[in-house]
Amino acid sequence: MSTTLKSADDPSRPDNGASSRQLVIDTGNFYQQGVGREGIRHEELAAERSRIERVHQQLRNGSAGGLNAEFACLDLAHTMPAMLAGIRQMAVDLRAYRDVVLVGIGGSSLGTKAIGQAVTGTTADDTPNLHYVENVDPYSLERLLTRLDPASTAVLCISKSGGTIETVVQYLILRDWLTRRIGPEAARRQQWVITDPDQGWLRELAVRENLPSLPVPARVGGRYSVLSPVGLLPLAVLGVDIEALLRGAADNAVRCMTADLAANPALEIAALSVLLDTQRGKRIAVMMPYVNRMRLFVDWYCQLWAESLGKWDRNQPGSEPAGTLPVRAMGAVDQHSQLQFYLESRHDKFFTFIELASWEHDLPVPLDAADARHFPYLEGKSMTDVIGAEFRATRQVITDAGHPNITIRLPALDAYILGQLIDLYQRTTVYAGLLYGVNPLDQPSVEKGKRLAIQFLRDMPRC
Ligand code: PA5
Repeated sequence: MSTTLKSADDPSRPDNGASSRQLVIDTGNFYQQGVGREGIRHEELAAERSRIERVHQQLRNGSAGGLNAEFACLDLAHTMPAMLAGIRQMAVDLRAYRDVVLVGIGGSSLGTKAIGQAVTGTTADDTPNLHYVENVDPYSLERLLTRLDPASTAVLCISKSGGTIETVVQYLILRDWLTRRIGPEAARRQQWVITDPDQGWLRELAVRENLPSLPVPARVGGRYSVLSPVGLLPLAVLGVDIEALLRGAADNAVRCMTADLAANPALEIAALSVLLDTQRGKRIAVMMPYVNRMRLFVDWYCQLWAESLGKWDRNQPGSEPAGTLPVRAMGAVDQHSQLQFYLESRHDKFFTFIELASWEHDLPVPLDAADARHFPYLEGKSMTDVIGAEFRATRQVITDAGHPNITIRLPALDAYILGQLIDLYQRTTVYAGLLYGVNPLDQPSVEKGKRLAIQFLRDMPRC
């Protein structure tokens, strides 16, 4: 079971052996001692030891070498500080606008949305409205355009490949809208780009039109890019403390340096998740936070986990496909929707609960005497008491039903904590991919779909 270590974020904090600024990760109910026979036995884990150590070494070797490393995405906390001055300057320019439209999809927007939502309460009043243009939906885009004033709107187009059709199409419409309303020169000054440093349509455009731009490091893929300019620039526009975000990621990386499972939560979660799949038939990974502001984090996690692991080992034709299907749930609302299914349907799932340890705001439950006669147990209670009891009750019934589960306890919702969480899950995903024997960085079948959509467009008559 993982234990807490001292965090480097607040050196003034007395070292009592367990920093209150570190994620608390309770993996006890992934084991048989915690959850009964569906959990993993320590001997099963011990039997995998040499494979786990090999994979740990592979990750360590693969993330050394800065931006040229295979797993450069796991070292952004160390490589990005060199770019922070440029990112901050660009954020100042973008903050001069009332509205910023971020055009991007998948890894180009989900991480920003997740962190933006989680820490949103800490942003200042003069922060621009950030609008996400992702899915191709003329109704949504048209509605957005009717609400925007072109003179005070900036467009930030983000695409690693620089050619994703959903992004390109909507960017072209936005560019045309700006150009028609304020003229080509002004329109050009209101466009920013984040894309591959050297190639792709968007990079060519940025060079040709002299648009201000930032690079997505060549070896960092979409869903692993939130700690690169892809996330750092829009998050800086939102007023998020991006240095604290990187510090959180760096501290989690330090926490995950060892091959000792008891001290490396990313390696432990990955090894247990893979064993739960391959040895216990747990094919579904449900993530259930008990805090609204973590809803979009689950979306980010779902993309990362599904797109990185749902594939088969191409070196071994005929091998079992890898991966567990990530599923979104939200406490407490999905207790009134999905929980019945979880408790009585097939035992093919494991659960990740996310809990907030201390809330910034609370509301007491106001009761008069008549109310108190009906709800005596609510006397002297507040909303956080209620959500806390809901969470503990659900975890208990899931555990009693024999479903393996872990709990991640967030000390607070801020950039430093989110940085730890992002690094934890990126690292866990890469470890899991290596344990399965698949490449966690590619998405060959997604690429196939993208190419086919283009073919269908080619074959369509012009309107
Ligand atoms: O993880 C990935 O690589 C993908 O999900 C991409 O993020 C997504 O397809 C968008 O691609 P791009 O950033 O090239 O527009």
